[in-house]
Amino acid sequence: MGRTKGKTTTVTGLSWGDEGKGKIVDWLVANHGYWVVVRHNGANNAGHSVYLDNRLVHLHFIPSGVVHPDGVGLMGAGELLEPFAFWNERLYLERVAGVDPTGRIFLDPRMNLIMLFHRVEDMAREVARKRGTDEEIGTTAKGVGPAYADLAQRPGIRLHHLLGDPTEFEETFRAKLLEKLNLFFGVLGLTHEELRTILQQLRQKDQESCHEILETGAIDPRVFDYSRYYTSSTGLDPSAMIHDYLEIAEQIRALDCVRDIGLEVNRRRVAGENILFEGGQGSLLDVVYGTYPHVTSSHPIAGSACTGTPIGPTFIEEVIGVAKLFTTRVGGGPFPVEDEGFGEQIRGMSGQPGAEYGTTTGRPRRCGPPDTVITRTTALWSSITQLAGTKLDFLDPLEEIKICTQYELGGEKLDLMPMDPKDLDRVEPVFETLPGWQEDTSQARRWSDLPINARRFCDRYLELCQPPIEGADEITWHSIGVGPNREQLIVF
Ligand code: GDP
Ligand code: IMO
Ligand code: MG
Repeated sequence: MGRTKGKTTTVTGLSWGDEGKGKIVDWLVANHGYWVVVRHNGANNAGHSVYLDNRLVHLHFIPSGVVHPDGVGLMGAGELLEPFAFWNERLYLERVAGVDPTGRIFLDPRMNLIMLFHRVEDMAREVARKRGTDEEIGTTAKGVGPAYADLAQRPGIRLHHLLGDPTEFEETFRAKLLEKLNLFFGVLGLTHEELRTILQQLRQKDQESCHEILETGAIDPRVFDYSRYYTSSTGLDPSAMIHDYLEIAEQIRALDCVRDIGLEVNRRRVAGENILFEGGQGSLLDVVYGTYPHVTSSHPIAGSACTGTPIGPTFIEEVIGVAKLFTTRVGGGPFPVEDEGFGEQIRGMSGQPGAEYGTTTGRPRRCGPPDTVITRTTALWSSITQLAGTKLDFLDPLEEIKICTQYELGGEKLDLMPMDPKDLDRVEPVFETLPGWQEDTSQARRWSDLPINARRFCDRYLELCQPPIEGADEITWHSIGVGPNREQLIVF
């Protein structure tokens, strides 16, 4: 008789990211034994927060399950790797979060790398957009777009190149850097002065994001002094950069963490281990289906668990969509229900550290009331089976709650998002208003603990998220979040 195979589930963000995926992953790991968590898209543009012993822990590359002593984090080839930032995140886990990740994080050698020149390119392209007629995207400046572009353009530089023959790596790196310098100065019109400024800005950003590790003394702050790579002759000095890359290659090699992640996932499932796929970003940032071009450069929709691991679609049994019970986005782009007044109310009243400020960049998130046109649309894109609604507690003080039920465009009512994102600037949201409950929900642990108006709001929200196709499978609640802590969750 064969062994029982492990369960397989994906956790997918249903809007523009930061829906609370990290917390749901953490809960599933702790309560349903999903010890194996796989990241399959994005990079450290993601910021996933989990509470660990009453302390907020932020993860960017590394799957959230690793905060559990038995958790295993697998980083599939669909995810990008910035080797220094990855190293620093491991240090953060060890020195700041008090988590020992030794032997529990594995990388696929086919992961494409984000190099320093991708980060420079990311910022230089934003400078060029600002100078030209294009609107800035408001990227996280982690180099994600340029690194995915190189992956598709071919050749990108992959982890197996970094860990392989140093002479070959050096040749590839020199050629790529030359191409990038021509791009910066020749095509994007970057000046040496602007390049120096970008290097300083990167130093500042990294120092800020690594401030907790810097305080432990585990990192020499000089590693962030990227102006050491600057040279007035060519812009960036390949030899100094190659030296540092070969050094980090040595450190990563010593971890013995490189595996075929697809094979690993299959083997572990057959051995009875439950597997959870943790999406980065949110569906509306999907490079094809999202609010293009104001999107990221990967596929946050559930299907990317397949291509980014790789596994086939029949491998996945459940798809949990995570939706904040109001709407936020960081960065530029259309946002039909955006409401500054609502944002100020939400930020002002929560009293929680970091409330509606980006986990990765610290920027205030743009906010608006719940928009079920978005959730209805993105739930379809990922064939969601269950919905995890987060941050109900943020709505506690409101007298009444507006829910966007449809969009109106040129006199026509739309149930789903228009396919041309430009139309999103022209749609008029149609709202329905429900009474608020003005009671604290943060202590609720069961559906029956919620005030009646909160239950009415949730019932209506779920009803509005159902696919607009007769006979389609019904989406049910997975959970409703009432606070950032793991136990602040009503589970169905
Ligand atoms: P992710 O990128 O989807 O993992 O989300 P982030 O971690 O970037 O942002 C979500 C924020 O909301 C984090 O600070 C979480 O701790 C917090 N959070 C998640 N669920 C809830 C909830 O139900 N209530 C409250 N108050 N905070 C929540
Ligand atoms: P998590 O996983 C929210 C946004 C950026 C920008 C756009 C493109 O925490 O939900 P990029 O640097 O990816 O090229 O930026 O995408 N963005 C996110 N917004 N949460 C995220 O991740 C995001 N990752 C990227 O703000 O608008
Ligand atoms: Mg986030």
